Amino acid sequence: MRITAITLSAIAALWACTSAPAATEPVAQDTAVSDMVSLSAQTVVSPDGQISVTLQSVEGTPTWSVSLGDETIISPSPLGFRFLETDSLDTGLVLVSAETHSADKTWEQPWGEQRIMREHYEELLVRFADTGISERYFDIRVRVFDDGVGFRYEVPQLTADGKISIIDELTEFRVDDGATAWWIESGNYNRYEYIYHTTPVAEIDRAHTPMTIRTAKGTHVTFHEAALVDYAGMWLDRQRPGALKASLVPWSDGVRVKKDGVFFTPWRTVQISPDAKGLLNSDLILNLNEPNKLGDVSWVEPGRYVGIWWCMHIRKCTWGSGPIHGATTERTKEYMDFAAENGFAGVLVEGWNIGWDGDWFNNGELFSFTEPYPDFDIEELGRYGAERGVRLIGHHETSGNVTNYENQLEDAFDLYERVGVAQVKTGYVADGGNIRRQDENGIWRNEWHDGQFMARHHLKVVSEAAQHHISINPHEPIKDTGLRRTFPNWISREGARGQEYNAWGYPHLNPPEHETILPWTRMMSGPMDFTPGIFDLTFDGPDGDNRVQTTLAKQLALYVVLYSPIQMAADLPENYLARPDAFEFIKRVPTDWEQSLAIAGEVGEYVAYARQERGGDDWYIGAVTDENARTLSLSTDYLEPGQAYTAKIWKDGPEADWKTAPYDMSIYTQTVQHGDTLVLTLAPGGGAAVWLTPAKEGAQ
Ligand code: NOJ
Ligand code: CA
Repeated sequence: MRITAITLSAIAALWACTSAPAATEPVAQDTAVSDMVSLSAQTVVSPDGQISVTLQSVEGTPTWSVSLGDETIISPSPLGFRFLETDSLDTGLVLVSAETHSADKTWEQPWGEQRIMREHYEELLVRFADTGISERYFDIRVRVFDDGVGFRYEVPQLTADGKISIIDELTEFRVDDGATAWWIESGNYNRYEYIYHTTPVAEIDRAHTPMTIRTAKGTHVTFHEAALVDYAGMWLDRQRPGALKASLVPWSDGVRVKKDGVFFTPWRTVQISPDAKGLLNSDLILNLNEPNKLGDVSWVEPGRYVGIWWCMHIRKCTWGSGPIHGATTERTKEYMDFAAENGFAGVLVEGWNIGWDGDWFNNGELFSFTEPYPDFDIEELGRYGAERGVRLIGHHETSGNVTNYENQLEDAFDLYERVGVAQVKTGYVADGGNIRRQDENGIWRNEWHDGQFMARHHLKVVSEAAQHHISINPHEPIKDTGLRRTFPNWISREGARGQEYNAWGYPHLNPPEHETILPWTRMMSGPMDFTPGIFDLTFDGPDGDNRVQTTLAKQLALYVVLYSPIQMAADLPENYLARPDAFEFIKRVPTDWEQSLAIAGEVGEYVAYARQERGGDDWYIGAVTDENARTLSLSTDYLEPGQAYTAKIWKDGPEADWKTAPYDMSIYTQTVQHGDTLVLTLAPGGGAAVWLTPAKEGAQ
């Protein structure tokens, strides 16, 4: 069968009556196609007409390009693959078919920064086929939303037995080398935990995604991926001027991705906004993921928590056994009492299980996930917590030995489920490239945290945990690509420098600008377990090397700025009890939202969010700045017109400065209405947190 105009329309008809995603079968069976119909460039435009994507074969090379109005965002950039078992799909390809679809629907998040989501896009599905052998092809499915673009490859079975190894994915993102980029290095020892660089694209080496650039025109663009399932994570390698090339994380044997039969890649995404703030309001990543596969997830519980955690990081107690062992029954009960008295849902306990003694960083094989230390009575603590309405939050540090963990997974979750644990923090402390796995021949292999092996592992943990009604919060994770939509028990994760770096990171503490870059980088992928709320900012003394480089008010603001459905109050209970005025905000701030709006911001300078609590009328605002003081004039247009609100404000005081006067804070109330401008002055390294509640009748 030759591909002709007639067979192409038959293919189109096949697609039309198949519910998406289609293109799962190689359609043409024969070879020798010299008279293949070749279509010209195909363009699809976003619903609002602003963003357009063009697919085209340029002298046999499949390409894609993206524009915003008359600005070229991505100039024609190659697509394709190299394989181990068969010829590449990179040149000699023509565009042989194209069809379009539209969608405009809404869906609801069980928890999230926004309850109702709108999924509104125009879709183009094209086929690039080998001019010589028509069954050698790939399809590109593009979806263009008002906030950006996603496309994925849909690849038929290409070998007789179905086995296919991707040696290279040739996707490029060709951008202006002079654009400003905010990025961290990939394929390096510290996983995603680097201080962000601000450089021209020309100075990028090889970056992680999400990565954001600002063009000369001021357009902001984020590169990332959505629905990373059974595939390698994508790094962006600046290989030549203006060319960011997909660099798929390799397996230990050098192959990038191993597949069997038909496969789809994750969506390669480009979020686009004319200004910085608009980028933060993009829903593209979630919209490109599959709907919830777990059914009723009412057992997934957002909320605030405390933990036996910071005391290890500031060396006041230990994970391992000994005189200052942190995870004792007695200390956990104290934390549970504190949690119950102050409205926290759970108590995280690290260092509760056998395996921490000695060099735990390098001894992942020693961890038991079912044997507590003798001074930690897990059954009793389950009971004690239940009596007080507080859950024990579990912890599984693997030190990167994934085989040791997978061997115990079921038993580990059985135990936690029995004692009432509904959430487990997992951990993969190991240098990048040093995830340990024992292969089918018993040989130990070292893998990356973000390769296909770990993409599989994380979903295995999340799926097993779901069987036990447990939610998962991985640290040293694989990056977020929106899979929380499909697996809502994947409740949060780390995946960037969190608060812990302030405890022991000297000389590289998180700089004051860190949290003003995170929203446009790490947070573009989803919730982060940053663990804000340190009140004793100079815990090593005023001249200590390690300290938190923010004001106290900024620590409060982070609860609103850095979204996570689980938020830790990370400091020691005594430090909260010493500052009840500031602690009030943490006790009050929700972790689940009806809607969220970025209301101001410039990357690396400042950012402000307003979020409405889920199921209520109250709003919360968080605003943070970098090392510079500034005055923000914030709109209140989201408030209900005609309704007066009482705003309680926790902000930097007149003398505040993260270096010299971090605790200086002003707390006051004022009345605010829709249309007012809320003026907040922020100190160097500072911030502000605001709680807005409808004013009581006559209270004005
Ligand atoms: C690194 C995690 O980010 C941190 O939160 C945890 O306490 C340690 N690993 C130990 O598991
Ligand atoms: Ca970490």
